[in-house]
Amino acid sequence: MDEKNLIRKALEGQKNAYVPYSKFRVGAAVLTEDGEIFSGCNIEISSYSPTICAERTAIFKAISEGNRRIKAVAVVGDSDFTYPCGVCRQVIREFGKDAIIIIANSEEDYKKYKLEELLPHSFGPEDLKENK
Ligand code: THU
Repeated sequence: MDEKNLIRKALEGQKNAYVPYSKFRVGAAVLTEDGEIFSGCNIEISSYSPTICAERTAIFKAISEGNRRIKAVAVVGDSDFTYPCGVCRQVIREFGKDAIIIIANSEEDYKKYKLEELLPHSFGPEDLKENK
């Protein structure tokens, strides 16, 4: 996996952040199992609850184009290492139990995690399959 390229795509996504309220810009990029990359940004709505994170924008773009498995997600934000929120961790879990999460300040300065480290003992699709 080309980690720097995925971070670059997240940084490109960040440029499109629509953040008139928080002014906190986040970008994300998702690598699918087919090797496609989808980028995303956070989008804020004046009635705040419909606001969506950059990670979910990128993931939903990938899923809505027919992809089902996520290999990696890169995240960049305005804080020193911006980590995905709990909701986004659960959404990543749905499509990437073994996904690699890259938390980046820049192409040179980043940390890598397994989703399992950020969301241990998770609930997922397999649990529902046990409920016959
Ligand atoms: N945000 C993201 O896009 N991703 C994260 O991982 C953390 C938070 C957004 C949501 C909101 O637009 C802004 O950052 C402040 O919470």
